[in-house]
Amino acid sequence: MAQAIKTAPNVEFTDAAPAQDDSHSELIRGLSQAQKSIDPKWFYDEQGSELFEHITQLPEYYPTRTEISILRRNQQEIAALCGPSCVFIEPGSGNCEKARLLFDALRPAAYVPVDISADFLRDAATRLGLEYPWMTVHAVCSDFSDDWTFLDNLPPGKRVVFYPGSTIGNLAPHKARAFLQRVRRVIGDDGGLLLGVDLHKSSERLNAAYNDASGVTARFNLNVLNQVNDALDADFDAAAFEHNAFYDENKRRIEMHLVSKVDQSVRYSGGQIALAAGESIHTENSYKYSVESFAELAASAGLGIVNTWVDDEQLFSVHYLSAG
Ligand code: TRP
Repeated sequence: MAQAIKTAPNVEFTDAAPAQDDSHSELIRGLSQAQKSIDPKWFYDEQGSELFEHITQLPEYYPTRTEISILRRNQQEIAALCGPSCVFIEPGSGNCEKARLLFDALRPAAYVPVDISADFLRDAATRLGLEYPWMTVHAVCSDFSDDWTFLDNLPPGKRVVFYPGSTIGNLAPHKARAFLQRVRRVIGDDGGLLLGVDLHKSSERLNAAYNDASGVTARFNLNVLNQVNDALDADFDAAAFEHNAFYDENKRRIEMHLVSKVDQSVRYSGGQIALAAGESIHTENSYKYSVESFAELAASAGLGIVNTWVDDEQLFSVHYLSAG
């Protein structure tokens, strides 16, 4: 485990980012398949994290503001379920703004933001610690999709995992189940999971949310190629690709792709990747659930819904779950 450094009296930051070699071979493997793909974690460099923040403010992108209003409106009920002085763990915390909304009602003993974007996380965690001197902040830079060893060094207390933003929807259902099983083990019999899930709805509304008129989502999607260029010393040219996102009603998921505009061959250190005109690199899925279909998935991982909150338009859901 990497060593923790103190960035404020009550803030610790641990850089446990995965070894570069592992990530690189995974990246090359993804780009060598019949359907090429890039793992979505590559979106979140400094630039990507900033573009994503911009997405959350777009008029078409309803999930963030809807979830925030659900959390705001129900914070007392949520805090009562989490209980006083919990250890509040947030995988993929980004700018930590959603957790911040809950702190005054929740009064956690400790907040544990976990994110892949090191500098972004360290800054957000440090700011937060200075603002909330009565709690401790244990920030961990890690790829939470496969390494949860950071949990070994946490303070004692009831554990509540916070997983907002419908990030669960970015996992295929079998992976979402595995993730929930892991959470189930981490929180034990007495802990909880507070999680946000985007709801299935009309394709028009969903397609608009991932194809904003101002093109920010397209820029976010294309920016992943800069990350790949840095990581693999590659020469992807973003101008030779275009953003494509669409809702698949049967699979109930948004698929996001980068489509090659031309026949091209992209060089990276150690090889070449050939792309035909019209061929795509799959960069993300965003599965949508109903309250019922999500309850079923959770049950298959040993988690039961204790309470669900939705907005008046039924666009988005927030669930509190626990074992049993
Ligand atoms: N998990 C959210 C969603 O699927 C946020 C998100 C992740 C997102 N990657 C994205 C939104 C790419 C837009 C584009 O909606």
